[in-house]
Amino acid sequence: MNILILGSGGREHTFAWKISQSPLCDKLFIAPGNAGTLQHGTNLAISATNFLALKQAVINQQIDLVLVGPEAPLVEGIYDYFKADVDLKHVAVIGPSAKGAQLEGSKAFAKEFMAKKNIPTAGYQEVTLATLSAGLDYIDQQTPPIVLKADGLAAGKGVLIIEDKATAKQELKAMLEGKFGAASQKVVIEQFLDGIEFSVFVVTDGHHYKVLPIAKDYKRIGEGDTGLNTGGMGAVSPVPFVDAALMKKVEERIIIPTVEGIREQALAYTGFVFIGLIKVGDDPLVIEYNCRMGDPETEVVLPRLKNDFVEVLIALSKGQLDKIDISIDDRSATTIMLVSGGYPEAYQKGKAITGMESVQDSIVFHAGTILKEQETLTNGGRVLALTSFGNDFQSALAISKANAEKIQFDKKYFRTDIGFDL
Ligand code: AMP
Ligand code: GLY
Repeated sequence: MNILILGSGGREHTFAWKISQSPLCDKLFIAPGNAGTLQHGTNLAISATNFLALKQAVINQQIDLVLVGPEAPLVEGIYDYFKADVDLKHVAVIGPSAKGAQLEGSKAFAKEFMAKKNIPTAGYQEVTLATLSAGLDYIDQQTPPIVLKADGLAAGKGVLIIEDKATAKQELKAMLEGKFGAASQKVVIEQFLDGIEFSVFVVTDGHHYKVLPIAKDYKRIGEGDTGLNTGGMGAVSPVPFVDAALMKKVEERIIIPTVEGIREQALAYTGFVFIGLIKVGDDPLVIEYNCRMGDPETEVVLPRLKNDFVEVLIALSKGQLDKIDISIDDRSATTIMLVSGGYPEAYQKGKAITGMESVQDSIVFHAGTILKEQETLTNGGRVLALTSFGNDFQSALAISKANAEKIQFDKKYFRTDIGFDL
């Protein structure tokens, strides 16, 4: 079959790398892709949210399956667009409908979804300008820190954790008055949860589900989890503190009711549920849902998956996940992100990347790169992810670090302490 991957980051290069290993894939396309995805298929210069141009490409290239990487096309309804079009409805789309993508696209929707299924999560109050006074009262009842979340997508910036009530009240007003545009016209105020985070990835069609390897990402720019939030500076899989007893609770209290909720609420879902969890004491609670795979978590999750990934995607699209046994590599995988100096604030693009050929024993996944006149240049904040295997995450990390030193580009930066808190 012919497959199209949508997106251009490290997650999508990892998808392309894994799919290209499958005998079931004839031709592979990536829209828009990066310099790394070119190693495995053909890049199409089409944005992942340009549905009309994607439709033409899918028809022209006789695409049978579309794997959606980022959340934006899902929240904008790419699944529904395909299913409503007579020329496209036969194409399998891996990802939820717009309604299902609300699990990520609206924090209020996700909270109501969890409440209906008694899924453990932080207590909350939903607020708009019309109910501001109730929101201010709710803040008064909390013990700081106070967590404020813009309801809609805000490029990863929509969550504020505030140490005092007075500032929280000011910020709540600023958010409702448009600090994050339409995304914060509604705000979810949440109880602060104190614990350690990890992520679970589930593939589901709303009936059957399979659990992929567990991971933990490191979002802060600085060593020791300091400084600004980024899209993710590195990740490990598995996560040593997530033992069988904790996973049993995650499955019984969170995964099973989530899949049931998707079915009961008829959310039309054939894709990934990325569940951001926090362990408080011995118990798991949900911090957030995403309707896609994580980045850079994918760069450690997929290399540990032994299955033919295309076989899994086909079973998912046909509602036959029960026929698949997931097989996972016992080794640990660690990835380190090499980023452009300045990221996650202003940074420069177009810097030549050298030394990739001297990398040994790591997989080089491209994130923000572009090939211009035979030269690989930086083209984003997150540039490359280096994934290595080891008997534990520390030995995998050591290999990635050694290779991170061999790659050069102007103002390269990376964290050396991925997994420091494990
Ligand atoms: P989110 O975008 O919902 O993943 O939130 C971003 C980050 O904020 C999470 O990864 C957590 O580190 C933190 N966070 C979100 N909600 C809470 C909460 N209720 N308690 C503590 N930390 C939180
Ligand atoms: N690494 C976090 C995310 O993909 O949302």
